[in-house]
Amino acid sequence: MASRRPCILLLNASLAGDSGNTAVLLAEARRLLARRASVAALTLAQPSGAPLAFDTIRPQLVAADAFLFGTGTHWDSWSSVLQKFLEDATPAEGTALWLGKPAAVVVSEHSVGGKGVLSRLQGVLVTLGCTLPPMSGLVISRAASIASEHDADAAHDFWCREDLRVVCHNLAEAAAGGAPSRWKTWPVDRADFAARWLA
Ligand SMILES: Cc1cc2nc3c(=O)[nH]c(=O)nc-3n(C[C@H](O)[C@H](O)[C@H](O)COP(=O)(O)O)c2cc1C
Repeated sequence: MASRRPCILLLNASLAGDSGNTAVLLAEARRLLARRASVAALTLAQPSGAPLAFDTIRPQLVAADAFLFGTGTHWDSWSSVLQKFLEDATPAEGTALWLGKPAAVVVSEHSVGGKGVLSRLQGVLVTLGCTLPPMSGLVISRAASIASEHDADAAHDFWCREDLRVVCHNLAEAAAGGAPSRWKTWPVDRADFAARWLA
């Protein structure tokens, strides 16, 4: 992997393009990653209508050492622009464009379905040829945010925006290469994860 300052590409696959929730999360990620990497960004959905074509962005994908994908949850799946991107990326499966490059994923959702999106997307990225750093996939949920505002203590084990720091750290660590890597973890509930919560 890169011994120079690595180039990390943020791939905004939101249906809402630069005005969606994904854009907010990726702007935060950009700030976090900029300390350790050159950060480039692409937004698939364009105001003009047609999303960026895979062949148009291929040079930026080739130039990247690592990727951070962002998408919303849409009927239990990722966005249609991301589906189109993945379909168009198929001829590059197993090529140097992807091979061995670390990929992180941030999914947002209202309430349900995001973890399924995250897990399946991570599976696709590995099949294309990417690697997954530890703790590099995150679901930011509106339901969890509301719960946290009302009862931060009860919601302490839910994923939150602060966990984006861990995702970005581990992605930058993997992109930098070298060993041993100094991975970070988000807080893990080791006390009452098995406690009954229904009265
Ligand atoms: C067409 C559509 C379908 C959606 N389906 C789901 C869903 O299945 N589960 C969910 O929790 N949220 C769902 N949402 C909410 C979005 O996932 C959520 O607002 C997300 O943050 C959108 O990201 P974006 O603003 O970057 O596009 C849906 C939103 C839209 C517009």
